[in-house]
Amino acid sequence: MKHLFIVLDGIDGNGKTTQALLLQKYLEKKGIKVFHTSEPTEGQHGKMIDDLLRQKLAGRIKKEKWIELFTQDSKEHQRKIQDNLNSEITVICDRYIYSTLTYQLEEKDWQSYISGFIKPDIIFILDVPIKIAIERIKQKYNKTREKKSYFEKQGVLTKVRKQFLKLPTFLDHNIKIIDSNRSEKEIFKDIKKEIDLLMNSSES
Ligand code: TYD
Repeated sequence: MKHLFIVLDGIDGNGKTTQALLLQKYLEKKGIKVFHTSEPTEGQHGKMIDDLLRQKLAGRIKKEKWIELFTQDSKEHQRKIQDNLNSEITVICDRYIYSTLTYQLEEKDWQSYISGFIKPDIIFILDVPIKIAIERIKQKYNKTREKKSYFEKQGVLTKVRKQFLKLPTFLDHNIKIIDSNRSEKEIFKDIKKEIDLLMNSSES
């Protein structure tokens, strides 16, 4: 069975981490080795980003600086992703370059930006209405009591959601938009179907 590079992406509060974990379990049950990772990473730049996102001064950081930080973090991450793929380990990545495209960049820059990065076998964009996402974000913070992250605002997420939905028309990548305003089980059924198809096609 072929090892795959799988990405789950989309706006904050869309439930991608839950689906990534379900997918990891599903693949591991089949005896497939999985490396579950995420961007921002736990690396030097990822930690810096995570810290900045929860500080008041986040609003004073210029767009160019965010692009620089997210890009450095993604670049550092490439090696780890490639090493795992080379060792025939399936990689599940929670957010990838598509977040930088949609949160920070304009459409005209998308094509050139992606050219330096490993192309995933499949990308799931989990799409939810903004109201649902905001509600989930609220619930998360009520539970965890963590500080709110800078981009988790209605205005930002409304714009970013539109950008995510544009990705399939702009990029020649295997992007699947998944209606995620449904139960976890129903969403996972769609993801599983796509993954099974991909695995079967790579076997033949
Ligand atoms: P993340 O830690 O994935 O948040 P969560 O796990 O809550 O979904 O991402 C942190 C924030 O950073 C999130 O609001 C999306 C944003 N982000 C960008 O703006 N650009 C990027 O390139 C990436 C990877 C994330």
